[in-house]
Amino acid sequence: MSQSREKSELGLFDLEAPGIGPTGRPLPHIPEVTPPAPGPKRAQIVAMTNQKGGVGKTTTTINLGAALVETGRKVLLVDFDPQGSLSVGLGVNPHTLERSIYNLLLSKDYTFDDVVLDTVVDGLDLLPANIDLSAAEVQLVSEVARELTLKRVLEPVRDRYDYILIDCAPSLGLLTVNALTAADGVLIPLECEFFALRGVALLTDTIAKVTDRLNADLQMIGILATMFDSRTLHSREVLDRVVEAFGDKVFHTVIRRTVKFPETTVAGEPITSYATSSAGAQAYRDLAREVVNRCRAV
Ligand SMILES: Nc1ncnc2c1ncn2[C@@H]1O[C@H](COP(=O)(O)OP(=O)(O)OP(=O)(O)O)[C@@H](O)[C@H]1O
Ligand SMILES: [Mg+2]
Repeated sequence: MSQSREKSELGLFDLEAPGIGPTGRPLPHIPEVTPPAPGPKRAQIVAMTNQKGGVGKTTTTINLGAALVETGRKVLLVDFDPQGSLSVGLGVNPHTLERSIYNLLLSKDYTFDDVVLDTVVDGLDLLPANIDLSAAEVQLVSEVARELTLKRVLEPVRDRYDYILIDCAPSLGLLTVNALTAADGVLIPLECEFFALRGVALLTDTIAKVTDRLNADLQMIGILATMFDSRTLHSREVLDRVVEAFGDKVFHTVIRRTVKFPETTVAGEPITSYATSSAGAQAYRDLAREVVNRCRAV
């Protein structure tokens, strides 16, 4: 580790004597992430899924993506929500988009390169979406192999990226099933509030069905506790319950509640560039470290 780094910039896993982490468990040693090996790429595809709204799926997609780019990885973010929040969070106006992921899903006249956009972060690409995507959900119903549509779009570009992160809509409909079918792994953000665990059984049931019928290789990468407020006993209790329910699947990294995240949406850029030495940016760097090590392990 570089001597010049400020103590405030040190991550959870850089401490000399690791202690108890924010989830209440002893912190393991998690190796620092080195740049990817040169040579052909084959992207790990990760779906950010939770049918509950407002739990941090989009925030995690943007900031984990940007943190992975800082480690030298090339990353594609896929907006798979008709709300287009991921596109907005990266400074794209979904209303004025001429082409979006909708065209790739439903027409053969467009190529990936017609639709993909650069973002403010070098090495971070975006497949944008807007309200048209809600029509895709209806139109896909009558297609053959309708669950495999996104997989067909992403498969040919896997050799261009190290990671492809899919930001799902708050639903368990056909779009989310497409995301889970295209993915190697699923990451579930859970908000640290009272109803966080409600509906998780339905989500894990959907994941089990997709694994059984469509994508036998799908792995659960981890559960991410978000919007944690260390000042409230309530947040602590919810986090304890999440760890009790999911054990080792829960990431040691916990994302705290801070107004910096809504600010980054307005700014249209990730927290890693908007407030580069903030605790929020560091938390997503810690998460990137855990994700890379977990993806390597499977
Ligand atoms: N750690 C955090 N602290 C404070 N606010 C946050 C945090 N993470 C996300 N937010 C804010 O909470 C709102 C919901 O977050 P986000 O859009 O990431 O959730 P989502 O799960 O993608 O929502 P949806 O289900 O609508 O797609 C946003 O305004 C976002 O800026
Ligand atoms: Mg979202």
